[in-house]
Amino acid sequence: MVATAPNETSSSIKDLYAHFIGGRRVLPDGPPDLVRQNPSASNEVLGGFKSADIEMVRSAVRGAAEAWPKWRNTAAPSRGKVLLEAARLMDARREELARLISLEEGKAIKDSRAEVQRSINITEFMSGEGRRFGGYTSGSEMATKFAFTTRQPLGVVACITPWNFPLAIPAWKIAPALIAGNSVILKPASATPASAVRLAEIYQEAGLPDGVLTVLAARGGPAAEALLDADEVRAVSLTGSTATGFHVAERLARRGVPLQGELGGKNAAIVLADADLDLACAGIVDGAFGSTGQRCTATSRTIVVDSVADQLLDKVVARTRQLVVGPGVDEATDVGPAVTADQRQSVLKYLDIGRDEGAENVFTGQLGSLPEGHWLAPTVLDRVKPAMRVAREEIFGPVLSVIRVPDAETAFEAANAVDYGLAASVYTRDVRAIFRFVDKVDVGIAHVNQPTLGGEVHLPFGGVKASGMGPHEQGREAIDFFTKVKTVYINFA
Ligand code: UN1
Repeated sequence: MVATAPNETSSSIKDLYAHFIGGRRVLPDGPPDLVRQNPSASNEVLGGFKSADIEMVRSAVRGAAEAWPKWRNTAAPSRGKVLLEAARLMDARREELARLISLEEGKAIKDSRAEVQRSINITEFMSGEGRRFGGYTSGSEMATKFAFTTRQPLGVVACITPWNFPLAIPAWKIAPALIAGNSVILKPASATPASAVRLAEIYQEAGLPDGVLTVLAARGGPAAEALLDADEVRAVSLTGSTATGFHVAERLARRGVPLQGELGGKNAAIVLADADLDLACAGIVDGAFGSTGQRCTATSRTIVVDSVADQLLDKVVARTRQLVVGPGVDEATDVGPAVTADQRQSVLKYLDIGRDEGAENVFTGQLGSLPEGHWLAPTVLDRVKPAMRVAREEIFGPVLSVIRVPDAETAFEAANAVDYGLAASVYTRDVRAIFRFVDKVDVGIAHVNQPTLGGEVHLPFGGVKASGMGPHEQGREAIDFFTKVKTVYINFA
């Protein structure tokens, strides 16, 4: 095993293909089995290294447990200072980080810049929680008793993150886990470990003690299961597909370990007859095709009332036609490639499924001349019926399904007629319709006159139904998942 000095941070992406253990990059001996192609130029290799095996996972978990007491015994406001410094370092390196995300994941640089901002925001917000950390006091049933609650860290926790937000999702899981005083093992997606390693290095430079944050890249299978099964791991926060979430939940249930699962989505933007159609069109196109549609809050369905459907569709197609597909790092790019060849194939398969189900393909973007890469053209499907697979299953690519309905109530029903329940939005000026939507829509995040995308880091983020398990991420509540509550009674009679 080769360990490099902690502060030897090359900006070369190739060097970031490594694990990060005990405060340094670590490269296990042996032939690389995690090899990452550039999604925008698939004959180019960005980097590669050997995946963690079971023994490496076990020893990293032991190391995290050994490092924990020092961090646990650092006062919460002092932990907050480390987070604040990490946020400052991210701010100072925002352009380097954005480029790294665009190279590694493929998304358009403007989306990567927004992702870096989000990572800064959550880290900054959680740093302040260090000064608000704790429980509450309460009157007792006895006049001579004092009662209060206190929150304590769990020990070692694992964060398992996907490839589509290679910096922000690690950032928003790590920040609450660390401010609460835990040691963290981060297992990033095999496709995007470099951004996670860079984030860990930033934390280390900010003053996080060695071993408190570990990055271990491992393909699913025995090494990943060794992480879930490790006795020291007391909670797991996962973002991934619903199928993965259920598998992990089952495995953790054997040990009684809680899961925070942020899973799939099939988000609808509803457009009612009185909507500002230009506003709706801008939000829908951004929601469907931004980040190449590879985000769990993407707008993958538009449910529009018949009376404005043709008008809206014309606008959506005209706007989608303007989108430039290209390499993530190019300033002109609106839509980057799919993250991998497999992901691209999976999206193309859904286009066939939609056609076979009778959806009408009303627009497929032009790709122009591009290097060999995992390119996908933005596509709009019309006359989609709620029962079709393209209306119910998460496609995770730049595909928008348009569903036409007679009225608002049918629109709300159609929005709920899926297994998922992450986000939804409605475009209307009718205050009654807005409140009916907010009341009826079965999602974790409801938007009015804005896209289904994202959220603000100081508010809870998460879904219901097949979109989420356990408590939501972000917001002040995010800390609850990473702590245990102790209720204390002091008798001073
Ligand atoms: C966003 O859409 O802005 O995996 C965040 C995902 C989500 C995060 C989305 N967990 O796409």
